[in-house]
Amino acid sequence: MPTLLQLDASPLETSVSRELGREFVSNWKASHPDGSVIYRDLAHKTPAPIDQAWIGAVYTPSDQHTPDQRVLLAPSEALIQELEAADEIVIGVPMHNFSIPSSLKLWIDQVVRVGRAFSYGAEGPKGLLQNKKATLLVASGGVYSDGPAASLNFVEPYLRTILGFIGITDVRTVNVAGVSKLMSGAVDRVTLLQPALQQIRTDAAVSAI
Ligand SMILES: Cc1cc2nc3c(=O)[nH]c(=O)nc-3n(C[C@H](O)[C@H](O)[C@H](O)COP(=O)(O)O)c2cc1C
Repeated sequence: MPTLLQLDASPLETSVSRELGREFVSNWKASHPDGSVIYRDLAHKTPAPIDQAWIGAVYTPSDQHTPDQRVLLAPSEALIQELEAADEIVIGVPMHNFSIPSSLKLWIDQVVRVGRAFSYGAEGPKGLLQNKKATLLVASGGVYSDGPAASLNFVEPYLRTILGFIGITDVRTVNVAGVSKLMSGAVDRVTLLQPALQQIRTDAAVSAI
């Protein structure tokens, strides 16, 4: 049974990335009638920051974990198991301060664990979560497609790097840039989102073939 893991990270009810996520999931369900969706709303149920005790537990061999360490790592285990179960991942990503929202970074910190998401071998680090596809649904106030502004966009380079590090290299991105134009009234929401929503529908139709 195909499984999709959907992550949302926008704190806003009027979120653009959440709207793209809803469109993605409805298309995915239509093309995977026997599939199941695991949903995580990181903005409303935010993973805990990692601390000294957590790091100590991660670097203790699992057969030597104390009961307290097992409890401490349980949320991380649950998030990793969801990722392991998924054939596909879709992440709604609002740009915050030129990068990803802190709730998504906390999810990454909980998931990117040595021995679970990556390992070190003779040839360096190796991602352990292979054969998965990811789609990033990115919304930003500004436009970063080219010119000097492109170097200020840390969202996509970072997410591609960290997903690649854990073995997820098949990554597509759908962007809605220039969301700040909605505030000034320079463009309306339907017009601004239409190309991204169409891209999601087209990608779903192509991958269903
Ligand atoms: C706290 C915060 C920080 C933001 N930082 C940036 C930024 O650095 N660059 C940018 O282009 N837009 C920035 N924006 C605008 C958002 O990227 C834009 O509103 C986008 O639509 C957010 O995605 P969402 O609608 O899914 O929440 C910021 C918005 C918020 C709320």
